Amino acid sequence: MPDTTSLQDDPIQPDLSRFTRRVFSGIQPTGHLHLGNYLGAMKRFVDMQNAGGFETVYCMVDLHAITVWQQPEELRRATRELAAGFIASGIDPARSILFNQSQVPEHAQLAWIFNCVARMGWMKRMTQFKDKAGKHAEQASLGLFAYPALMAADILAYHATHVPVGEDQKQHLELTRDIAAKFNHDYGVDFFPLTEPVIEGAATRVMSLRDGAKKMSKSDPSDMTRINLTDDADAIAQKIRKARTDPEPLPGTPEGLEERAEARNLVNIYAALADVSVADVIAEHGGKPFSEFKPALADLAVAHLSPISGEMSRLMQDPAEIDRLLAGGAARARELAAPILRRTYEIVGMVGADRMVGADKPEWV
Ligand code: TYM
Repeated sequence: MPDTTSLQDDPIQPDLSRFTRRVFSGIQPTGHLHLGNYLGAMKRFVDMQNAGGFETVYCMVDLHAITVWQQPEELRRATRELAAGFIASGIDPARSILFNQSQVPEHAQLAWIFNCVARMGWMKRMTQFKDKAGKHAEQASLGLFAYPALMAADILAYHATHVPVGEDQKQHLELTRDIAAKFNHDYGVDFFPLTEPVIEGAATRVMSLRDGAKKMSKSDPSDMTRINLTDDADAIAQKIRKARTDPEPLPGTPEGLEERAEARNLVNIYAALADVSVADVIAEHGGKPFSEFKPALADLAVAHLSPISGEMSRLMQDPAEIDRLLAGGAARARELAAPILRRTYEIVGMVGADRMVGADKPEWV
């Protein structure tokens, strides 16, 4: 009889080295992509693709998006725009597997199994649900509450070993490990990997341009708080010029940023865009007033982001081509996920698992 109240102290530890090195990550197709998504996630997805040594699987998580209301036409537009954003940022659909979640039914199927593994107590601790549902938790969808179990399924349907994300996703990744460990323990198997979160770089938490205590987010009502990947050069420069700062010049050492959230945020953004360390930025710009640093940051942001937004609009002119690429990515994703789902069903005791899609491919790692 499995323990249903808490995690085991000593879950069976599957050895990660036995799994194919595989990266999985996802982004919700809601609103426009902003600089936080780009620096915290997208740019790092591209780096991991280009570094080699990993299979890379990237997903537009449309099933997650509908946990809060989405206008159907807008969801379709946002999914295609996000796909264009991935490709314009440097994801190559031939080298990475790029698709939208709903085209691979194994995500939702595995999520149901995980709904039966995860415990209510674990889900109730998820801060993102509390933040998103706010005071109206009774009105929130059941999907919003169950969201992290679907996220675990996204990752574990591929036996992904590494998941690059921004800092706000850390708790969800811990839950993913908890679900994998409990499944392995309850069924006495060594089947799901305990995935490694990859939360690295200067920009794992890009903050609002108007309030250094709040993260940059799609849902902030003020557009001045964020830089969108679709913003033109003038909008980017204006938002950086108006970004909140304090009256002091930049400090002479990285430690001098500690109590200065807004200054730290702009320096972090600079470092991430330029692919250098915070210490390098301070070595170059320390002591300068914001009236000098902000134009330098604006130039860097425009030089980096303009080619991406230009390429995104070009790609958006041919939605049929985007759809074709996503269908191809989904077919490749299913080849990986179907045998893993089939084996999961077998472990759980579902009759007929041997005749499911993927039964011809018993290799699941
Ligand atoms: P989402 O769509 O909110 O954000 C996508 C990615 O962008 C990162 N991010 C940020 N990074 C730095 N600073 C910020 N201000 C900032 N805002 C967002 C997020 O950390 C994320 O990496 N639940 C996920 C999507 C998801 C997923 C998955 C991720 C679904 N299934 C499986 C990884 C693996 C989400 O809502 O991300």
